[in-house]
Parts: sequence; structure tokens; C-alpha cells
Amino acid sequence: MQTRRLIRAIDGETLDPPPVWLMRQAGRYLPEYRQTRAAAGSFLELCYNPDLATEVTLQPIRRFGFDAAILFSDILVIPDALDRNVHFVTGEGPRMDPLTVADIDRLDPTRAETHLAPVIATVARLREALPQETALIGFCGAPFTVATYMIAGRGTPDQAPARLFAYREPQAMDQLLALLADMSAEYLIRQLRAGADCVQIFDSWAGILDEASFRRFSIGPTRRIVDRVRQAVPDARIIGFAKGAGSMLSAYRAETGVNMIGLDWSVPLTQARMLQKDGAVQGNLDPLRLIAGGAALDEGVDAILSELKAGPLVFNLGHGITPDAPIAHVEALLRRVRGQAS
Ligand code: CP3
Repeated sequence: MQTRRLIRAIDGETLDPPPVWLMRQAGRYLPEYRQTRAAAGSFLELCYNPDLATEVTLQPIRRFGFDAAILFSDILVIPDALDRNVHFVTGEGPRMDPLTVADIDRLDPTRAETHLAPVIATVARLREALPQETALIGFCGAPFTVATYMIAGRGTPDQAPARLFAYREPQAMDQLLALLADMSAEYLIRQLRAGADCVQIFDSWAGILDEASFRRFSIGPTRRIVDRVRQAVPDARIIGFAKGAGSMLSAYRAETGVNMIGLDWSVPLTQARMLQKDGAVQGNLDPLRLIAGGAALDEGVDAILSELKAGPLVFNLGHGITPDAPIAHVEALLRRVRGQAS
């Protein structure tokens, strides 16, 4: 019997209060994270250390009692497994060797299984360590979003290098995305078999694509992942978060086959309500309302609840929590979502 509230909501049940977790809930806004992070050495060493990665995944669960834990890792472990020289520069974000068309044929996915074994070990430990009622979410980046970092070698404000690459070299882009999709599917299958209750595919940069490119480079490879995962794990629950996909969200769910869609804060609540007719939705509080707190936070939470609580909803932010989010505001958010607001 399925009792974890997150999973019940993904399966289409309306729950009061809705299950709640926050994207990037393990992170720098928590002093205990900063402490473990400092002890780990580099960020990637933290990701590949099952003891420490388990610890930081559990930190927000202990502190806040969220309905779900999300595996601590990063979407860029896939390019790291491909030997792209991934590293994180403090205060500046990820860096890696920029990918050229000629590099694509040389990418070797066969190292991934060994390379990512510590992350799978973390999943298994987490399922043991978590409270029975807490769902465990595994994840990967969507091929397009991962490719934007691989092509530019870093994050950029509009990921123009990847868009240009896709327009100039569409076949090479398809080839790269297919390779990433197959690696990611394998990675998600292993997470599900190790104890993840569901998985989320983060397509944080989907919103920069025009319609034709969105269908080809976001929906297509995501569908490839979903199909492969379901071949191996037929009842796999999959959350798709295509940030910025806006009016394409209905097509995104229908054509990829994901069970639940994540909504960023630009999605109008009236549209979100329509999307709920086809299945569960997750979101969509602006992370800056969490920083502001007070009326901005309360009004944002109330608007989402009043529009969406009559259908299958997972309360979340519309994107990741930021390092400057005050802990007291996270507590206020939880009280309000769970109906204990004074
Ligand atoms: O708590 C959780 O959500 C689990 C862990 C998690 C991290 N990254 C940890 C992390 C998850 C699910 C991610 C996803 C991720 N990583 C995405 C998709 C979601 C999104 O936010 O759009 C993306 C695009 C990345 C790539 C990435 N990782 C960037 C661009 C950065 C630098 C920017 C930043 O926030 O620092 C990271 C680093 C990163 N990933 C940190 C954490 C906790 C901070 C690094 C540190 O502690 O030194």
C-alpha cells in the first residue's frame, strides 16, 4: 500500500494539507549544510561521499519535516562522468571544458556506472535512514539543460551558446541529447531500484527555446528518458520540471508522459488549474516571496492554496530556494501551508 503523501499526490489524490518540499532544500541557507560542505572539500566530493551526501539530504528533513527528501547530488555529475573536467568555482558556479561538435563522437558513457556508484549508494542509505512517511526523490537534469552547460562550459544568462549550437548543428545536438538521455535513463533506473520513490527531471533552461526547438530538444529527449525508464520500471513516477515552458506545459506533460509537472512562478494560477485536470501539479511560489517574508509570503502561499488545493497539488517553490532565504521564513511557509498560521 502506498502511504507516502507525495506519491499519493503524484498519483492524482487531492490531499489537505498538500504535501510540501522545496527545490534545492539542502543547501547554503542552512548553517548545518555550510558546515558539512566545508568539511567535504569540494562540492563534487560532497556529492560523491555517501556519508556526507546522506547527511545533507537529511538536514532539511530533520529541521522542517518536509514530506519528501531529494537526493543530494547535482545534474552535472553526468558531464562529470563523461570526463568533461567539471568543477565548481565558489561564488561563480559550474565550469567545464566547452564541448565542440568534434568532441561528441568521443564521449564515452561506459564509465558512468562506476563513476556514479557512490550516488546510488547514497540513495540506498537514504531509504534506510528516512522516516517511513518521507518520500525520497531521485533526479537528473534534462538532456537539454545539461547540454547548455556542456556546450558553454559554464552557466550564461541566456545559454545562447547551446541555442546557436542547436540551430547550426541540429543533428549533432540530437546525437548529444540522445546520448545524455540514455545515460540519464540508466541513472534514474538505478536510483529507482536503489529506493527512490519517484524521480524529477530538471529542465531549468527549457524556457529559452522557441516552439520547434522545445519540441525537438526538450520534449523529445525527455520522452526518450521516460520511455526507457518505464520499460525497466513500469510504474515509475516521474516529475517533469520544464522551467519557463508556459503555454507548452500541457503538451509537455502529454507528449513526454511525465506524471506530474512542476510549475515556475510565471505560470498563472488559472492555467495551473486547467493543467490540474490532466494530473498533479507542483509549485509555484516565487522564491523571492520566501526571502521577503511577511505579507508577500502569506499572500503568495494563500493564492496557490486557494486556487489549487481542490485538486492534486504538491506545494513547492517555482524554482530553487536561494542561499539568502531566512530559515524563519521557511518555517512560516510550512505553518501556513499546513494550516497552523496564527
Ligand atoms: O536539495 C536539493 O535540491 C538536492 C541537490 C541539488 C543541487 N543541485 C545541489 C547544489 C539539485 C536537485 C540540483 C539541481 C541543479 N543543479 C540544477 C537544476 C535546478 C535548478 O536550480 O535550476 C542545475 C541547473 C544545477 C547546476 C548547478 N549546480 C549550478 C548552476 C550551480 C551553481 C549555482 C548555485 O546555486 O550555487 C550548482 C551548485 C549546487 N548544486 C549547489 C548545491 C547545494 C551549491 C554549491 C555549493 O554548495 O558550493
